[in-house]
Order: sequence, then C-alpha cells, then structure tokens
Amino acid sequence: MELEIINLTKEFKEIIAVDHINLSMKNGVYGLLGVNGAGKTTFMRMLCTLIRPSVGKILCEGKDIFEMDGEYRKILGYLPQEFGFYPDFTVQDYLMYVASIKGIRQTAAKKRTKILLQQVGLSKVQNRKMKKLSGGMKRRVGIAQAMLNNPKILILDEPTAGLDPSERIRFRNLISELSQDRLVLLSTHIVSDIEYIANQILLMQNGKIFHSGTQEEILNEVPIRVWRLDVRKSEVEHWQAMYKVANLKTMPQGAELRILSEQCPDTNAKEEELTLEDVFLYYFGEKAGNNDDVL
Ligand SMILES: Nc1ncnc2c1ncn2[C@@H]1O[C@H](COP(=O)(O)OP(=O)(O)O)[C@@H](O)[C@H]1O
Ligand SMILES: [Mg+2]
Repeated sequence: MELEIINLTKEFKEIIAVDHINLSMKNGVYGLLGVNGAGKTTFMRMLCTLIRPSVGKILCEGKDIFEMDGEYRKILGYLPQEFGFYPDFTVQDYLMYVASIKGIRQTAAKKRTKILLQQVGLSKVQNRKMKKLSGGMKRRVGIAQAMLNNPKILILDEPTAGLDPSERIRFRNLISELSQDRLVLLSTHIVSDIEYIANQILLMQNGKIFHSGTQEEILNEVPIRVWRLDVRKSEVEHWQAMYKVANLKTMPQGAELRILSEQCPDTNAKEEELTLEDVFLYYFGEKAGNNDDVL
C-alpha cells in the first residue's frame, strides 16, 4: 500500500494549518510528532477524506483518494482525536453498530468483533456499557472500531491521550501487532509513544513536516549535540538564559545540566548521546508530554 502526498495544503481563513506537505508512505508505522496546533489533526482528516485540501492531492496506489471515495474508505480505518460513542451502548453493541454503518454484514461483523475484542484484550468486558470503561479501555474500543473492516491504512489521532503508563505500554504492543501488512499513521505529542514502535518519525511544526526518517536518521541528521555540565547553583539561571537546557538535576553542591547546543558550551562540558526527546525539546521548546490532554 502506498500513499503519496503532493503539495498538500489546508487553509482556514488566515491560518495555514497544513503547509505544502510532500511525503510518500508505505506499509509500516509512522509516528507524527508535534505540539498542539502543529496541524496533525487537519493533516489526518484530509488523509481520511473528511476535509478537502485547499491545494494539493493525496494518491493511493496512484489514484486520487477523493475520486476513489467509497473504494478508498473501504480500506481505511480511523480513530478520531475525540471519538464519540453512545454511553449506554455495551462494547459489543457499539462495535456492531459501527460495523453496520460501515456496511459489514451481521454474521461477518460478529466474527470480526470477536477476534478484535480478543486482540485488544476486551473480551471480558464486551457486555459492559461504554460509560463504565476506563480511559485506556475506551481507546482500545476506538482502535477496534477502526480495525473492523481490516483496513490497509490505519490512522490514529492521539490514540494515547489520557492513558496511564501501563496502558501506554500495552498500547504500543498492540500497535506493533496490528501494523503487519498495513500502513499505520499515529499522531502524538509524547515522544516515548513512538520511539519504540514507529519505523518512520515525522516531525511537524506550523503545518510543515520539517524532518522525517527513522529515529536513527533523525538523530544523525539534526545539527544538535547534547552536553552534560556541572555548575554552581548561582550559575543555573545564566546557563538557562544562554542555552536550551533539556534537564536540570539539582545536586548538593550545585546542578547538573543537560545542554542542547551545536557547539561545546564550556571546556568542562562532556558530550552525551542525543535522544529523540532532546530533539523534540530543541525544536518544540517544551518538555514532551507536558500538556498531555486528560480524557
Ligand atoms: N476547522 C477549523 N477552522 C479554523 N481553524 C482550524 C480548524 N481546524 C484546525 N484549525 C487550526 O489549524 C491549526 C492546526 O490545528 P490541528 O490540525 O488541530 O493541530 P494539532 O492536531 O496538531 O493540534 C490550529 O491553529 C487550529 O486552530
Ligand atoms: Mg490534534
């Protein structure tokens, strides 16, 4: 499966939410990383044919997805950032309901629902009402509904928002499992969610994807280096004003700083290994995951 994105742009009045994106995607897991307002949701909504681009196009195996229309949606699964459900539906009822909207016959839908509930680890709660599920369980129902038609392209918008750490790990394993023979695109503003599972990382800011590649490629290509420097307490403010400081560890005699800089900041600084978290901080200027939404 190949998606080709050509010059894709979306403007809302004076805002350019998605700004001339060119990208080619094949099977595998793509992690779209960017802070709130970067344009992730708008980009994904276009990929799901929910909104039309102002300029540019998206081709699936060479065909325009808006012209393919229903034929494209047959091979597409989507978990919106805010996914609606009827609170009094049971998990099973909800999935059967979505299956009927997707035009899946009842007997096929029953079989498929059973398999998916097992896969996302929700068989035991299939008769529980949606409103009684934990945040993590709801997200997993969301993933199951996106998987009902066994899509070739799976698009998940902030699927980990509001999950606790153990749910996050479970989610990562699930995505790895589901990503076989599929193109999976997931957005997040939390680096650790995609560090381990994304084959390709797309860094998005102000509507543009300004870096893409494997984690290794990104770490090799960015012109950033990271340094450890021990300073006195009275000097901390000075260093913070001069450099981007990824981490500050207070010590009895002062502080240990993790400084992001292309050049060595001080003769006493020792170079350390760069991580994706450092890259995120360098470009987005905030610690990843700080403004995590709560469901
Ligand atoms: N329907 C809309 N009308 C006007 N502006 C919008 C609309 N949807 C998104 N935007 C704006 O586009 C930009 C990108 O938003 P969005 O795609 O939701 O980013 P993200 O998902 O990365 O947080 C933001 O400035 C947002 O306010
Ligand atoms: Mg969004």
